[in-house]
Amino acid sequence: MERKILITGGAGFIGSHVVRLMVNKYPNYLIINLDALTYAGNPANLRDVEEAPNYRFEKVDICDVEAVRKVFEQYEIDSVIHLAAESHVDRSIDDPFAFARTNVLGTLTLLQVAKERWLNGAERDAKHLFYHVSTDEVYGSLGAEGIFTESSRYEPHSPYSASKASSDHFVRAFHDTFGLPIVISNCSNNYGPYQFPEKLIPLFINNIRERRELPVYGSGANVRDWLYVEDHARAIDLIFHRGRIGETYNIGGNNEWRNIDLVRLLVRTTDRLLGRAEGEDESLIRFVRDRAGHDLRYAIDSSKLQNELGWSPEVDFKEGIERTVRWYLHNDEWLSAVTSGEYRNYYSRMYDGR
Ligand code: NAD
Ligand code: TYD
Repeated sequence: MERKILITGGAGFIGSHVVRLMVNKYPNYLIINLDALTYAGNPANLRDVEEAPNYRFEKVDICDVEAVRKVFEQYEIDSVIHLAAESHVDRSIDDPFAFARTNVLGTLTLLQVAKERWLNGAERDAKHLFYHVSTDEVYGSLGAEGIFTESSRYEPHSPYSASKASSDHFVRAFHDTFGLPIVISNCSNNYGPYQFPEKLIPLFINNIRERRELPVYGSGANVRDWLYVEDHARAIDLIFHRGRIGETYNIGGNNEWRNIDLVRLLVRTTDRLLGRAEGEDESLIRFVRDRAGHDLRYAIDSSKLQNELGWSPEVDFKEGIERTVRWYLHNDEWLSAVTSGEYRNYYSRMYDGR
């Protein structure tokens, strides 16, 4: 095998798209998916590649230094694409420690093991790369104007974004202090198939289908920049192969939506695909108490990535939303397994028994 790439968090939403892309596109790469299978990790997201000869799965917690070391040794890992994280802002408000543990200590554990294995006095190997996948939320919140660039100040507000900001700093510190070859990308909000239905888009599609209330935080005026998940995965592939060591790349959809407008689009699309009168389920919208510390607006300038590596988003937003709604409506088995947590029992038995 030409490369042996450890992808962490590959059983999650974005990770599963990255694993699928790499396994299918690069048959000469061995892809090792390392994931602890928390509530958000579901190996069924990868059923279509799990039998591929260049795919392996390891159920490991990134905070478990011995287990991480073992995986690095066993597969002679030459690079890492690190996506494993606690990722939901509302959960971080309820349990910040879980976020510090996985996002900060887990990242530090991976960095430490990569350093031990790669910077042990042997000659520098050009294949070595620690690619850290991060979020635009580290930059904080914008007012009505402005845009985040790679040199925007870090100003996280939620325990989630604070933990991601901290992990970004550790990744840069390992580059600056020890010379670990790293690259970081900070991406805007993703949407698409396999996203856990606690996040706005899949939660609301499911609620519309079930005719449950749609809890819009505050006045619904908050703005997010949405990117189709496969566009993010393509950007990660490009940055992994051609990004400059030590650099940060912003990734965004150039596609800002106020939450309330997005919710109305979701209602219309879901109603239409269910054969209901378009917009009839707008009556399910409820304006509820705002999220604490709710960032008003994110917008990201990805011109560095576009100019240096020729990336641009390919999936038009309305097309992407249509695809996504169709996917959730056609995959109710996946949805009910995920919401009941039943898959976790099944796969825990399967992988813990080894
Ligand atoms: P997700 O919550 O869907 O998946 C996270 C995955 O990490 C799961 O498979 C989970 O089992 C695994 N995991 C969690 N804790 C672990 C641990 N201690 N050890 C090993 N595995 C563990 O998340 P996502 O939305 O796919 O996000 C992936 C990455 O991308 C995260 O680092 C997130 O910060 C970043 N990101 C997400 C978005 C977004 O819109 N979702 C945007 C920008 C960046
Ligand atoms: P979310 O999908 O949780 O992503 P993030 O907080 O990382 O941006 O939320 C997207 C936006 O939708 C955010 O402004 C919060 C809002 N939101 C609601 O209004 N209601 C909800 O039930 C959820 C989950 C989110």
